[in-house]
Amino acid sequence: MSLSDLQSEIRALLHERNAILLAHYYQREEVQEIADILGDSLALSIEAARTNADVIVFAGVHFMAESASIISPDKTVLLPHLGAGCPLADKITPASLAEARKKYPDAAVVTYINSSAEIKAHSDICCTSANAVKVVNSLTDARQILMIPDGNLARYTARFTDKEIIPWEGYCPFHHFVLPEEVARAKAEHPGALFIAHPECNEAVVAMADFVGSTSAMIEFCRKTDVREIIVGTEIGIMTPLKKQNPEKIFISPSESLVCQTMKLITLENILASLKTMTPVIKVPEAIRIPAKRALDRMLAVR
Ligand code: 13P
Repeated sequence: MSLSDLQSEIRALLHERNAILLAHYYQREEVQEIADILGDSLALSIEAARTNADVIVFAGVHFMAESASIISPDKTVLLPHLGAGCPLADKITPASLAEARKKYPDAAVVTYINSSAEIKAHSDICCTSANAVKVVNSLTDARQILMIPDGNLARYTARFTDKEIIPWEGYCPFHHFVLPEEVARAKAEHPGALFIAHPECNEAVVAMADFVGSTSAMIEFCRKTDVREIIVGTEIGIMTPLKKQNPEKIFISPSESLVCQTMKLITLENILASLKTMTPVIKVPEAIRIPAKRALDRMLAVR
């Protein structure tokens, strides 16, 4: 079947099942093209909370589908490939978090949305890269914050708060291993270019950036700037919306590290199969869902 036949069949089945397709910016181009909502982690969580659809098909990774199930337990949430996990989310376990809570009994736990439902359930509040600073500063009673599981996001956030931030030493292997030398080489090859980075990049790379932000903030920055060449320090899937929205601009990836292998496990073929069979379903057990929802709701209430 051709790509466009697959796309048409998926759209027809989505309609038939009263389903919505949510896709992250890191998805394959052909998946992005047929998404109902394309967005960053925050926008996709908000959409999962407000959609009237009966079924949410998540073209993203496991924690995103779990978040949808936590927020909308009455909906069927499908993740077309169960291998689509997040290596960053795997950098913390409930046991290691319990140890850290003992070590820092007064710290509030701020959990990046890139984490399992069980970790969210043991957290005070969640955050995404789009709202981390606001979330941390919203905790007026907390002086000390344990930020899990991304140490790079924690160190970046620490620059914008007077609270004591204790970073967990987890990282996204794709962002973390972008090297300062690679960025320096891209800058030397494109002397007029700006460099923008996701806060999951390591501290040395973030320090080289002209702009740091979530995927949606990076997209907005690229739309607004008059500079025509931009080196993009995040996963290459973002090149699809960037090029579509800014055909006159040139976007350069600084590193071959920036390919999220697990996001790429979602394909048109497995989206179609998932809609046909209505599997695999992601369902968070109530005992975990209720406390995890508290942490997510608290985040969604931060303005
Ligand atoms: P955003 O929330 O910025 O889209 O980031 C999601 C993510 O998983 C980055 O690796």
